[in-house]
Amino acid sequence: MVKENAPGGHDATLRLTLRVWRQRRGQPGAFEEHTLAAVPTSASFLEMMDLLNEQLVRAGKEPFAFDHDCREGICGMCSMTINGMPHGPLPGVTTCQLHMRNFRDGETITVEPWRARAFPVLRDLAVDRSGFDKVIQAGGFISVRTGSAPEANTLPVPKPVADAAMDAAECIGCGACVASCKNGSAMLFVGAKVTHLNLLPQGAPEADRRAVAMVRAMDDAGFGNCTNYGECQAHCPKGITLDVIARLNRDYLGARLRGFFASTGKPRRGGD
Ligand code: SF4
Ligand code: FES
Repeated sequence: MVKENAPGGHDATLRLTLRVWRQRRGQPGAFEEHTLAAVPTSASFLEMMDLLNEQLVRAGKEPFAFDHDCREGICGMCSMTINGMPHGPLPGVTTCQLHMRNFRDGETITVEPWRARAFPVLRDLAVDRSGFDKVIQAGGFISVRTGSAPEANTLPVPKPVADAAMDAAECIGCGACVASCKNGSAMLFVGAKVTHLNLLPQGAPEADRRAVAMVRAMDDAGFGNCTNYGECQAHCPKGITLDVIARLNRDYLGARLRGFFASTGKPRRGGD
């Protein structure tokens, strides 16, 4: 039972058993079990992990390695699978924004790294997500000169298009989509990046090259393909939807066809 808030404003606390993955790079890993006696319900999940590490250090043991940075849901670093779910049980919430009041006193919580072939474990809960960096380096940018910021009304973008681009831009590159997919697919991530840039006028001149290059980089980095299970959408903390995968497929196919007709000199439909 959760102990009630004590007079003087102290938090209620939880007694927890934690099963946490311990692994060194290239070696087999295993779960280690630890108990934390008094975790404040107001603590975030990462703060709870800090408490565990402080307890381990005080006992002369090695703390667990885990990634984190902003701790406010914007950097995408806090990659942990909690009770089998990337970022834990709450929809639309990153690990750093998950609070311990969402767990029960006496609960056993299992904490693992992202599980995906393209994200090898570096140590304990930290994985190598450089595959995402390679995808971004292949096309997640605008290199054409777009000049200085124009007066807003001279570059009208229809509201639904601007909304769709900004929704896709919410992707924080956390990798939960890959970790939740049985194929280890990065299509939701790549679809979000391609959609964000290709929809806007500044991104249009390089749209074809971007779609092809990012899909190639995704394949080269060892990510799997999409078979429409939708786990990525269910676990994405930023609400990116499968629509971006449909757009990615359309942009990629269009780019390949345009490239094919350009290389053969055959006219495209409509004679352009
Ligand atoms: S699409 Fe969602 S789950 Fe995938 S990297 Fe972006 S924010 Fe994370
Ligand atoms: S630590 Fe930055 S999103 Fe969680």
